[in-house]
Amino acid sequence: MNRVYNFSAGPAMIPEEVLRQAQEEMLDWHGLGMSIMELGHRGPEFQAVLEQTEADLREVLAIPSNYHVLFVAGGASHQFSMVPLNLLSEHHKQADYLETGVWSHKAVVEAKRYGTINVAGQVITEADGIRRLPLQQELNLNPKAAYLHYTPNETVDGIEFHWVPQTGKVPLVADMTSSILSHPIQVSDYQLIYAGAQKNVGQAGITLVIVREDLVKEALAITPILYTYKAHVESKSCYNTPPTYAIYFSGLVLNWVKRQGGLKVIGERNHRKASKLYACIDQHRDFYVNKIAPDCRALMNVVFSLAREELTEEFLNQATQAGLANLRGHRAAGGCRASIYNAMPEEGVDCLVEFMKDFAQRNG
Ligand SMILES: Cc1ncc(COP(=O)(O)O)c(C=O)c1O
Repeated sequence: MNRVYNFSAGPAMIPEEVLRQAQEEMLDWHGLGMSIMELGHRGPEFQAVLEQTEADLREVLAIPSNYHVLFVAGGASHQFSMVPLNLLSEHHKQADYLETGVWSHKAVVEAKRYGTINVAGQVITEADGIRRLPLQQELNLNPKAAYLHYTPNETVDGIEFHWVPQTGKVPLVADMTSSILSHPIQVSDYQLIYAGAQKNVGQAGITLVIVREDLVKEALAITPILYTYKAHVESKSCYNTPPTYAIYFSGLVLNWVKRQGGLKVIGERNHRKASKLYACIDQHRDFYVNKIAPDCRALMNVVFSLAREELTEEFLNQATQAGLANLRGHRAAGGCRASIYNAMPEEGVDCLVEFMKDFAQRNG
């Protein structure tokens, strides 16, 4: 078996020891003579897994007790609907959004179906073509907004807020799909956090929602029951059959995170990984191009293009042959992207850096 370094943006690389544990437990989970995926979701065994997974997430992220943790079937895109459907009310349908890339744009498009959306901030392109995020004082916030939604890390664009927008009394909602568990955060800075699992939490099919208790209220009347946070809270994520295997699998990943030493250790490692890659790009600035302002560069998704665009296919082909897979940029952005989530070992980044230096030397 030859596992490669997989730089996919998601579904993404999983720690090998987690895959092995899942493999070992596949046929006979904890001596029951059946797989975890064959267990009923209301039985005591699966309920214990669900409770432990929630407890581990609470521990890893230090989630305060006045927040609910929900495991919601579906992707982060479902939250593009659930957030406005649940946080707007019949008499108050204004919300603020920061539109800073492909994913927050999609969130805006969906929210506009339910309310009046004020785009309170966008990416700014400087005269030299460098792209940066708006500063706090450049945000055009509506103090009457029901909430402000933003995407701390734009997975496609490789641009990340390294600070938390201040909104006063307006609840802050964050789509952390590609940044969750990448470094420590202060959960109480936010009123609602959501994240699709398929990057740093586990497998596709489930989304984590961390929501402060007081935000769970009556949703807009048109909201299907399964799209209401209330139904998920009241049923403890079991209104219907939840994606049991995805929840179990998230639990394995969370245990791996704990064994690594938690988010502080993981965050430091992620900073080292990203710094090495950006340093390589900057040292070869005539060859590799990254147009994101240094203080807005993403930790998890390093985007770059080749100055001589015609070399891109050759770069990608040779990288694949060298065991460095899935470096092609998102179809909306083109170029290249190295997604270096928690499961990407530092050696994987070292190999990529060596390959990039060598490729630049051979083709420069
Ligand atoms: C920041 C962000 N938000 C939302 C999504 C959409 O997630 P899903 O495909 O799970 O709906 C993605 C997917 O990559 C993402 O990176």
